[in-house]
Amino acid sequence: MHNFSYKDGELYAEDVPLQQIAAEVGTPCYVYSQATLTRHFKVFDEAFAEVPHLICYSVKANSNIAVIRLLAGLGGGVDIVSGGELFRALKAGVSPQKIVFSGVGKTESEIKMALEAGILMFNVESEAELEAIHQVAAEMKKKAPIALRVNPDVDPKTHPYISTGLKKNKFGIDITVAKELYLKAAQMPYLEVIGIDCHIGSQLTTLSPFVDALNRIKKLYKELSHEGINLRYLDMGGGLGIPYHEEEPPHPIEYAKVIIEAAKDLQCTLIFEPGRVIVGNAGILLTKVLYLKQNREKNFIIVDAAMNDLARPSLYGAYHDIWPIRQKERPYIVADVVGPICESGDFLAKDRKIPEVKSGELLAVMSAGAYGFVMSSNYNSRPRVPEILVNKNCYWVIRQRETYEDLVRLEAIPDWL
Ligand code: LLP
Repeated sequence: MHNFSYKDGELYAEDVPLQQIAAEVGTPCYVYSQATLTRHFKVFDEAFAEVPHLICYSVKANSNIAVIRLLAGLGGGVDIVSGGELFRALKAGVSPQKIVFSGVGKTESEIKMALEAGILMFNVESEAELEAIHQVAAEMKKKAPIALRVNPDVDPKTHPYISTGLKKNKFGIDITVAKELYLKAAQMPYLEVIGIDCHIGSQLTTLSPFVDALNRIKKLYKELSHEGINLRYLDMGGGLGIPYHEEEPPHPIEYAKVIIEAAKDLQCTLIFEPGRVIVGNAGILLTKVLYLKQNREKNFIIVDAAMNDLARPSLYGAYHDIWPIRQKERPYIVADVVGPICESGDFLAKDRKIPEVKSGELLAVMSAGAYGFVMSSNYNSRPRVPEILVNKNCYWVIRQRETYEDLVRLEAIPDWL
């Protein structure tokens, strides 16, 4: 559910006409709805009200500091995967004690930065990383709070690029050797072993992989407690899917119900790292039709947004609905919606049945709040687009459009040229 809807034939973000944003800020741009972000966070959080829990919003999905600030203000923590995300989280005012740090390749300086900040825990993804964290902590004479990210080897049945909990994936520690590593970690003086973690993939549309993963982790949790290792946190990662097209993912309330049931005999705080389910349908990419073009095979709608602005269709063959800003009766055509980039892979939609649009018309690429702007690039020297947060009848530019100067700001021409 979201707050983008037609009123008198015109598409609004909450109470602001998208036409107005396009006129004042220009296109392309990302537009987010504060009401949707807030509702999504609260629904997820309240679904777990009956158990001790912490929602650590996965910043990688949309890391604008205004978005992080909003969710932190609702009581959220964050899941980070880099020093840059830690910097953003602290800048946005997230309490360090609500930050979990995941990712397979944390560097020494990132580990140091996180220890200095005093984060809640590191989700450790390998033995080598465990030793690196221990080493840095020893040098700082601090105890590093850790969880092991266990790879439970379950198939999340999602796109292979966003599956993470299978044996063949690079993520986590094989569940069959995790116990041994826990026993080792418990002996290391500068580590404090406090949790267990998993994340099996993204855009999951069924509950059973989550339950399978949890059951496997529970078994390990109990074995560890027999060994005297009592864990305070069980982090289930993120991954709950959203409707982009015809998917019917479970509602967060259903998700919470099965997790709470499966975890009911554990004495620990549950942590969740939702990303997409909070921000995905809270954002759109607003774009303008530049040209219409036909060849013998196809219709093309050429728009001013491209794969550098929204990579998901090119990268994963992802489907995003495309709505015209002006709603009116008109025939449909089948067309590819493409950007100006010099690559055949530059499309936002392929063979899409879409209302016949005119050049100059505005379109909304829906469900673009997650993994949209954050994955954008400057390819073809295209300045990255602005981000706008709408709150009822107001909006705020929460990131400006880059300028041509910004494009070359960090570059230099050597003296010898
Ligand atoms: N926790 C960890 C450790 C993760 O790796 C991820 C996502 C999340 C939480 C949040 O997952 P979510 O709730 O958003 O599914 N770029 C891809 C998605 C990559 C997901 C990477 N990890 C896409 O556009 O579909």
